[in-house]
Amino acid sequence: MIPLRKLYYFLPPAWRFLARRLYYLPVDLYEGWSGRRDALTPPRGLIYTGSGDFRASGEKMLRYFIELGGLVPEHRVLDVGSGIGRMAAPLTTYLSEAGSYEGFDVVEKGVRWCRENISRRFPNFRFQYIDLDNDLYKSQGGSAASFRFPYPDADFDFVILTSVFTHMLPDEVANYLREIHRVLRPGGACFATFFLWNEASARLSKNNPHFNFPYDRGHYRLMDEQVQSANVAYEEAYLKKMMIEAAGLALERAYYGYWPGREKADCKDFQDILLLRK
Ligand SMILES: C[S@@+](CC[C@H](N)C(=O)[O-])C[C@H]1O[C@@H](n2cnc3c(N)ncnc32)[C@H](O)[C@@H]1O
Repeated sequence: MIPLRKLYYFLPPAWRFLARRLYYLPVDLYEGWSGRRDALTPPRGLIYTGSGDFRASGEKMLRYFIELGGLVPEHRVLDVGSGIGRMAAPLTTYLSEAGSYEGFDVVEKGVRWCRENISRRFPNFRFQYIDLDNDLYKSQGGSAASFRFPYPDADFDFVILTSVFTHMLPDEVANYLREIHRVLRPGGACFATFFLWNEASARLSKNNPHFNFPYDRGHYRLMDEQVQSANVAYEEAYLKKMMIEAAGLALERAYYGYWPGREKADCKDFQDILLLRK
């Protein structure tokens, strides 16, 4: 039997959006009509950024930004791949007026929703649509491997990428790490999630038929051969030396996730979390 995930990747990006919208339409209509959805939670059919409880997962990450990353309310925050506002929503009640939030993403629908529902209520939260290619989400666009972030040097204290580098290819990740180094102030932090390929994840994921990376591309591995950005894992040692340190950033701490089959109770999150410092 073809796994559901494979079937989903088989659809062109626009059809994947449509399939989700239709699947959740009854529950979205009900939740909208009964007032069960809060103003900063999108209808389920629009949440193209992953499964799970939208608000709870954002709140959990906010706690990690604070406890692991040292985020404070006065920080200037950049959310790369801001999606449909999962990280922005809890930050609206955390960042002070001295702080600020900038997000950008390559999916116009998500950016539009964030502007209409978050920026309208919190004008110090700004979202930009950037037309870049990503074969999981788009059929065309410019190259993320040469994209310059639309912000001046040393503009941010804290940069977030939750579940974004997990959908980007090596030249793109390398460019983004250099851009993050450029836009962070000295001493600033980057909180980024990855799938890290190391001895333990290689060994453990052999026993996990539902989530693995069978296509070996040298220093990185793919989950799906056709849709390359579906999920990407990076060889940890290469990522650290040749990409993170080469960009001028220091890897301060790694928190391994339970994706390959580690005990959930021993991990912070499904994905691996890296805390990087300029
Ligand atoms: C799994 S979603 C996560 C979204 C959000 N960070 C969150 O945690 O809810 C991945 C996001 O990365 C965005 N993305 C993919 N390639 C990108 C790129 N080159 N630059 C910025 N965002 C990108 C996608 O459009 C999508 O919104």
